[in-house]
Amino acid sequence: MPITMKSVLAFLTILTLFVVTTAAAAPVTYQAKDFSRLRGMKGFSDQALELHFVLYQGYVKNTNAMLETLAQIASSTPAYAEMKRRLGWEYNGMRLHELYFGNLGGDGKIPPDSKIAKRLTEQFGSLESWANDFKATGAMRGIGWVVLYEDQASGRLINTWINEHDLGHLAGGQPLLVMDVFEHAFIPDYGLKKGDYIEAFFQNIDWKAVDARLGK
Ligand SMILES: [Fe+2]
Repeated sequence: MPITMKSVLAFLTILTLFVVTTAAAAPVTYQAKDFSRLRGMKGFSDQALELHFVLYQGYVKNTNAMLETLAQIASSTPAYAEMKRRLGWEYNGMRLHELYFGNLGGDGKIPPDSKIAKRLTEQFGSLESWANDFKATGAMRGIGWVVLYEDQASGRLINTWINEHDLGHLAGGQPLLVMDVFEHAFIPDYGLKKGDYIEAFFQNIDWKAVDARLGK
């Protein structure tokens, strides 16, 4: 059979479709992001940050390991069920750290004409009222996170307490500002003075990053 330009083009089209389909079907392997730009941040020692980066990398590694294992073990086993229950803990441990580091590294000053400043003022009465509630949530006893969530169905902004990594998330909510209040986040630099850590966190918020997460 003679090789014509038409047959070559047809072959290339089929090959491209095969490559695209195969690539799209491949599961994602998560890669730890580099947050070394945060070194030197006021109120956070490099030593504490390095420790925190290593902890974060552990969540990325475990998320990948759990997803790989789940794809291989029999679904009728207790190991499968327990790993399914645990996945959200590891995954959220990974993602929440990325959001947390991602909203740090700024100067803590919220531009008054930004969308986020307007929305917080509308919904909480003033930026101060919102901040007081966010800080009070962080001061609660226990380990976890504070997340300023945007309810995407209504646009309402809600300061939310997340127990550990996985309990208390708002379904369909968009996390705007995330603060780690596990002990490893503040004890290395502040001991039991969690309030001082929260103040340091506020002085380093990157409000441009927070504003960019806003949906409605
Ligand atoms: Fe953490």
